[in-house]
Amino acid sequence: MTEAKLEAWLEETRSFPPSAAFAKQANAQPSIYAEADADSVAWWRTQADRLVWHKEPTKTLEWDIPFAKWFSDGELNASVNCVDRHVDAGKGDKVAFHWVADAEGESRTITYADLQKLVAQASHALTELGVKKGDRVAVYMPMIPEAVVAMLAIVRLGAVHSVVFGGFSADALSSRILDSDCQFVVTADGAFRRGTAAPLKPAVDEALKSCPNVKAVLVVKRTGGDVEWTQGRDHWWHEIVAKQKTEHTPEYFPAEHTMFIMYTSGTTAKPKGIFHTTAGYLTQVATTHYYIFDVKAETDVCWTAADIGWITGHSYIVYGPLINGVTQIMYEGLPDSGGKDRWWKIIEQYKATILYTAPTTIRTLMKWGEEFPKSHDLSSLRLLGTVGEPINPEAWIWYRENIGAGKCPIVDTWWQTETGAIMATPLPGITATKPGAAMRAFPGISIDVVDNEGNSVGDGEGGYLVITKPWPSMTRGIYGDPERFKETYWSRFAGKYFAGDGAKRDDDGDIWLLGRVDDVMNISGHRLSTTEVEHALVGHPSVAEAAVVGASDDLTGQAIVAFVTLKLSADEQMKDQAPIIEELRVHVSKVISPIARPRQIILTPELPKTRSGKIMRRLLRDVAENRQLGDVTTLMDPTVVNMISGLMGSDDSE
Ligand code: PRX
Repeated sequence: MTEAKLEAWLEETRSFPPSAAFAKQANAQPSIYAEADADSVAWWRTQADRLVWHKEPTKTLEWDIPFAKWFSDGELNASVNCVDRHVDAGKGDKVAFHWVADAEGESRTITYADLQKLVAQASHALTELGVKKGDRVAVYMPMIPEAVVAMLAIVRLGAVHSVVFGGFSADALSSRILDSDCQFVVTADGAFRRGTAAPLKPAVDEALKSCPNVKAVLVVKRTGGDVEWTQGRDHWWHEIVAKQKTEHTPEYFPAEHTMFIMYTSGTTAKPKGIFHTTAGYLTQVATTHYYIFDVKAETDVCWTAADIGWITGHSYIVYGPLINGVTQIMYEGLPDSGGKDRWWKIIEQYKATILYTAPTTIRTLMKWGEEFPKSHDLSSLRLLGTVGEPINPEAWIWYRENIGAGKCPIVDTWWQTETGAIMATPLPGITATKPGAAMRAFPGISIDVVDNEGNSVGDGEGGYLVITKPWPSMTRGIYGDPERFKETYWSRFAGKYFAGDGAKRDDDGDIWLLGRVDDVMNISGHRLSTTEVEHALVGHPSVAEAAVVGASDDLTGQAIVAFVTLKLSADEQMKDQAPIIEELRVHVSKVISPIARPRQIILTPELPKTRSGKIMRRLLRDVAENRQLGDVTTLMDPTVVNMISGLMGSDDSE
């Protein structure tokens, strides 16, 4: 569709009605909303029957704002729910994962029975290393089956996993290990990316120099490269796990037992350890996965193209799909490992039926061109999903037409690390979808859009997204910091969860997400705070001051633009800037992650500040996006802004 055609179409039609054929067989029928609305707490209790309980709960919700307990007197084991139950039900031969390596031709098929044995062995091995109930275990892994096995074994023992994305630096890893006092780490020697082995273990070794409490490191051999070894601390997975018994008797834990921690960026420099507990989380990930992706356990092949190092991987690769007993694809590589049609080859080969990914990836695939998907048979696909950032209508339509053959419903799912599971989404077969809109709250979830005073806005108006009732998979807090939890999410509007996202209701009352309203940036669907990147920049010896903004970017949604004042003299500043700019980019990659590498760094002798000394980020955002500058009357020195605007062209951005 050309741009003009797209605009005309959006103007006229604006929505895609659900197909009658899909509606007939859909897991969710239109009555679901009324059923959930009638008594949402009771409705969630019914959904909790998707879990196998060691002891059925008699309580459903205890709500002491902002602290919720769901199903609190129930007892269960998360890994039994994901694995053993399916084997017990005679489905051990069903494929749990088709794992596809970065290199073409390398793959593994893991059935539920295989998974049960692997998890049993890993559980014994972790026990041998000293892991006990309640201990925190960091997982720093590539996308290999052992990552899932490790997570399931950790929760099987009642320990708590803290998965740190394998793309994070040693510094980022050590600060996360220290924050939740992890005493164990599971990692690999390295990871493959487009055929090249990238080491992981050296980052662990570096990180652990400042983490004296870590007692044991379990290392999967993936790339076979040379690794340094700390005797007594480091253990090879193939040596210690493979020798263990393949049966493991589980223990059962209370519903509110802490299951995992996931660090995510807030508005300060320090990432927050968002933690989730067991039964509420599992109930909502299983329920949302069942209805939103319309999964049929017997026939579907689900592919959540995300990394297990993020919440999407936790909820929709590991816990939701495994509870529902589906077959999945797990892919190690990049979208173009082995060629720009790699994804489509995988879909064709494994006959994927459901694909779930981020808008930024869709835009990249779109940029590569239609010829790549066209050269493969994608007719097995029957539902598509997106997550992580607002999707532009052009990408949505491209996804629908070129990947979904114009027939697959698209679910644009809004949620967060903190919400644990999907909160706003269309339901396939029920909701008429609009390109770019998350449409409405999932059944049993209460979402509102409010103005500055916390009053609901009318149709056709914008405001802030809030959640007005507790939900089962809500975070139970920030690890070790209940005050920060209250302050961040529950103080802006009394009794309501403040998500940090702008939203609007359109004339039909449907919800559109408009991006963050705080200092959190969304770079390719990854959350980063402006202060986190500023903190990294000022940590460089040459930097005096830094201000970071997220500027809109066609491919990555937002991109980082940094305005930096150096400690050097004005003369020195005017010298060749390229080397120091490159040095600063590398520095930020090293301190945080390559994701945080600024697209553009502008060196400026001064930053625009208000008379009270605050950096005016709003103005810098205008400058970064080449917009007409807003009100500058509160600036201490308005000429600074003009000077910075003049400097904008001076950095050859990537
Ligand atoms: O700004 C929203 C955006 O991603 C943020 C949450 O990021 P994270 O915790 O890393 O979780 C990402 C995966 C669930 C939200 O505050 N976001 C997520 N999904 C959407 C979205 N923005 C618009 N539309 C979405 N579907």
